This record gives sequence, structure tokens and C-alpha cells, in this order.
Amino acid sequence: MTYDFDAPVDRRGTASLKWLSPPGHEHVPDVIPLWVADMDFACAPAIAEALQKRADHPVYGYTVRPDGYYEAFISWMGRRNHWNIARSWITHAPGVVPALNLAILACSHPGDGIVIQPPVYYPFMAGIRNNGRRLLENPLVIRNGIYSMDFEQLEAMLDNPANRARMLILCSPHNPVGRVWRSSELAKLVDICVARGVVIVSDEIHSDIILGTEPHVCTATAAAAASEWTITLTAPNKTFNIAGLQIANVIIPNPRLRAAYNAQVENLGLGLGNLFGIVAQEAAYRHGESWLEELLVYLKGNEQMVRSFLAERLPRIQAYPLEGTYLMWLYFGNLGMDDMALREFLLSRARIWLDEGTKFGTGGSGFMRLNLACPRARLREALERLEAALVDAGMAR
Ligand SMILES: Cc1ncc(COP(=O)(O)O)c(C=O)c1O
Repeated sequence: MTYDFDAPVDRRGTASLKWLSPPGHEHVPDVIPLWVADMDFACAPAIAEALQKRADHPVYGYTVRPDGYYEAFISWMGRRNHWNIARSWITHAPGVVPALNLAILACSHPGDGIVIQPPVYYPFMAGIRNNGRRLLENPLVIRNGIYSMDFEQLEAMLDNPANRARMLILCSPHNPVGRVWRSSELAKLVDICVARGVVIVSDEIHSDIILGTEPHVCTATAAAAASEWTITLTAPNKTFNIAGLQIANVIIPNPRLRAAYNAQVENLGLGLGNLFGIVAQEAAYRHGESWLEELLVYLKGNEQMVRSFLAERLPRIQAYPLEGTYLMWLYFGNLGMDDMALREFLLSRARIWLDEGTKFGTGGSGFMRLNLACPRARLREALERLEAALVDAGMAR
């Protein structure tokens, strides 16, 4: 390995969101944060070097995206995601969550229905509600221990005119359940939406973090008409651990949808980007691939460590398969605690901070989401704390 993911990086004192004290538990010392989705690893050296080089030039004025930025991104998408995109399809946002909100404003009206597939990344729900749209839920179902889409329920919901369904927000790969959707699943989803004139916003921010054997398929390539109906959101933020640089790529092949999206970008004055985000993204896509390959091996090792620890020492906690993302979906329901008690137990007794399943909406009760992206020794310490707390409470087995 060229890169040392075991090396601890002290993030305290950097105003890191992840390393704040858990609200209401400021008094608990030394809680291990395994919640929000950023990584405790140093980013690829090529990114830090590019940023330092640019910072050395002392004028940080308005900055456009240079040709090299587009070339690096288009090449990355072709190489890693097998989608050849045209430069004219690419537009922007200061992050995937802002892009999601802009897409909602661009392609729906107040009172329209927007579908999500919970349990799912919570800003989807916030974006729909905050913009005065109505939440339509197509909950995922668990079949033989695997999360799947419920196409029958989706069709019935879209076919009900009272729902005024205009858009579906897809999480692919899916945060928090860790699925990498197969092309057959995506094709079916696209067919259902296209037949009813429903725009798909496909949040593919986790598409580079594939830990299983199945490849990520871009929704826009999954069926014949898919690209005309899909707004694809991607970013280097998760892949390269640069979420603080606030950058995202929005790919919209359909000129009508793209014009509507860009009108919202203009309205809010978001056309120009963050200089350092632009520099970092180009460096990441140009020079970051070997770092990413090693990161994936390391994350896989972390996942296997957690999985065997739970199986051998804490069998009442059930880990779902992890095909993509570095976020593991764990079921704690067999411990017999309600959601409030579980949160309290983990923070106060085990001193570990996971993301509560209930944040992810319907289907999240009893679950916790664990972020694997930290040095393995720290992850192991978190599991040992959990085991000690459960043994102490007589709940380990
Ligand atoms: C599915 C998904 N979309 C978007 C984001 C956040 O994107 P950004 O920081 O670019 O707004 C996250 C972060 O966890 C995520 O999991």
C-alpha cells in the first residue's frame, strides 16, 4: 500500500462537524464519532498539493471552470462509470444537497408530489417539505434479507392522479441500506417513471464507493429513454473526502430540463463556483485514482472486521450486506431497546456516536448507520466499547 489509512489524523480543532460533541451529550468524554458521512483519512496527496499550489497565488478572485476541469470529469465518468457524457450536459451546484433542491424547484411546482424510497438520506425529505412539495413514500422492502424496490406500490402511487407525482428522487448507491442497484432494477424503475412523465433525480454521490462485486450503473444509461428523463447528481466529495469544498456536478442531457435547472441556478446567483473546489475536483479526477483503489481495499477490510466482530461477539446486532457506500446499516432491534433508549445507550454507555435509523424515515426504527471510514484501530475500539457496554448491561448475547 502506498497510502497509510491506518495513520490517525487528529481532526479536533478543525471545526469538523463530525467531531463536534453530540448534542445533549457534551459532558460525555471522548465519544468516537461514526455518524456523518465524511472520512477521517487524509485526502489524496495530489489534491492537497494542487490546493497548496493554488493557495500560494495570493489572488482568490471569481473563478470559472477551466477546460481541464471538464476533461478530467468527462474522462472519469467514461472510465469509471461507463457513461460518455457531453460537456454541454454538465452543470453545477455548490453541493449535491443544493443540487437536489434546485432540481425540485426546477421540475415541480408547490403542491406536487415527489417520491422517495425510505429509509433514505434525510435531506431528500427536507428538500421536498421545505420547498412546499408533498412527500410520496415508496418504502423499500426486505426480501430474503435484501432491500428491494416495491414496483407495484410505486405504480399504484404514480397512477393515482390525486398524488400529482412529478418527480422521484433515487439514491444510487443507496444510503443508508448499502444497495448497488442492478441495471434490471434501474431499467424497471425508469420504465415506470418515463411511462408516467415522472422526472428522476438520481443522486449518485456514492457511485465511486463500490465494495461488493456488482458495478454501479448510471440511471441515465439503464434504459432507452432514461437519459431524457434523468438529472444525475455526482460529486468528488464522498469519494475523495473533500465535502468541505462544496462542489457538485449535475448532468442533464435533456435541454429542456437543463434550461429549467440553470434558470434556478441563475435566480439564486450560484453560477460561479468555489475556486478551491474547482481545483480539488480536477486534481482528484486526474490524479486520485490509485488513492481511491487503495481506499476501497481498506474500507472493505474495515467492513469485514466489523462483520466478523458482530457475528462472533455481538450476534444480536444484524449487519445488512454492504454493496456500496462506506455506511453500514445495522439492526439493533433484537436488543429490546426503543430508539430513544438505544441512542442514549450508545452515546452515554458505549461512548460511540452512530446515526440513528429514525432520521432516515419510514423503516429506520431499530437501526443505526455506522460510518466505516476511519482508521481500523479506532473502529475496533468502538466495537470493543460497544461490547463492554452490552456485557455490562447483560445484553451481549
Ligand atoms: C446520498 C447523499 N447525497 C448527498 C450527500 C451530501 O452531498 P453534498 O455534501 O455534496 O451536499 C450525502 C452525504 O452524506 C449523501 O449521502
